[in-house]
Amino acid sequence: MSGPASLGLGDYPWTRMRRNRKAEWSRRLVAETRLTADDLIWPVFVLDGDDRREEVASMPGVARLSIDRLLDAAEEAQGLGIPAIALFPYTDPALKTPDAEEAFNPDNLICRTVRAVKAAFPEIGVICDVALDPYNSNGHDGLVRDGEIVNDETVEALCKQAVAQAEAGCDVNAPSDMMDGRIGEIREALDTAGFANVQIVSYAAKYASAFYGPFRDAVGSGGALKGDKKTYQMDPANTDEALREVALDIQEGADMVMVKPGLPYLDIIRRVKETFTLPTLAYHVSGEYAMLKAAAANGWLDNDKTLLETLTCLKRAGADGILTYGAIEAAKLLQDA
Ligand code: PBG
Repeated sequence: MSGPASLGLGDYPWTRMRRNRKAEWSRRLVAETRLTADDLIWPVFVLDGDDRREEVASMPGVARLSIDRLLDAAEEAQGLGIPAIALFPYTDPALKTPDAEEAFNPDNLICRTVRAVKAAFPEIGVICDVALDPYNSNGHDGLVRDGEIVNDETVEALCKQAVAQAEAGCDVNAPSDMMDGRIGEIREALDTAGFANVQIVSYAAKYASAFYGPFRDAVGSGGALKGDKKTYQMDPANTDEALREVALDIQEGADMVMVKPGLPYLDIIRRVKETFTLPTLAYHVSGEYAMLKAAAANGWLDNDKTLLETLTCLKRAGADGILTYGAIEAAKLLQDA
């Protein structure tokens, strides 16, 4: 073996990458990314009634909860140090209409949930989804006129929905609809209504993804959906377009932006974070969660390790926060670790 003089700096055997990995203490010391409960947002599904819990078949471990039960869940999340929950409604099919008016009813399920959660746990962040699909009899995020999902009229409805949620006391509006110009219009509507401090998390780079299937079961919009969402959500083939979407939403006033789905879109998370350096969230969506649960149920993957690895990788890619149905599980695992 030749000595160091004949070797370039960093050559084997003088350099051995495995030295830093030889023991747990050393691996901990050099870890670049550390997942904590502070990074997690827990999406939850709410339904009408009292003391109700309905399992979502395609999302093992996830249930739709009535408001009273959801309060217990919010308390658990808060106790585990999870900063925020994101609310999604399972709307009674009888309340769905082609114009989705229930979306801006100040007494709709979401507004009642926000009031109850903020009264009981003022400290936990409450994020409300802004989009018409849970209320729309045709399952689309926007209004449909002659088969077209119309943009500007939808944006007016979204503004009313956002203001109703802000009046109920939500901390964050999260428009997930992908209409053009909605961030600026919603910002203006919120400010005009006296809600300058309500944050906007924009689902800025949201793809027309098949990974949302289980979510649509959970909110009961899947059966209703006619056609697909490709005229408003992005083509999974594109990445430059994501940067344009994010740039526009920042210009219009978004406080944070989101990339969705998560794991298949790590490159987008990375580009968005590096380009804009503003708080960037990733959504570990229902289908990603369902895949993990299905494999774990078969004994093919270790649930706990795979979940923590997945969330760590999303953070490593650049996500400052991650929406995941596994938030409670992950927070407990992190606590035990
Ligand atoms: C609705 C909305 C969807 C999700 C969040 N908000 C579904 C969709 O766009 O069809 C998906 C979340 C998930 O799959 O976990 N605007």
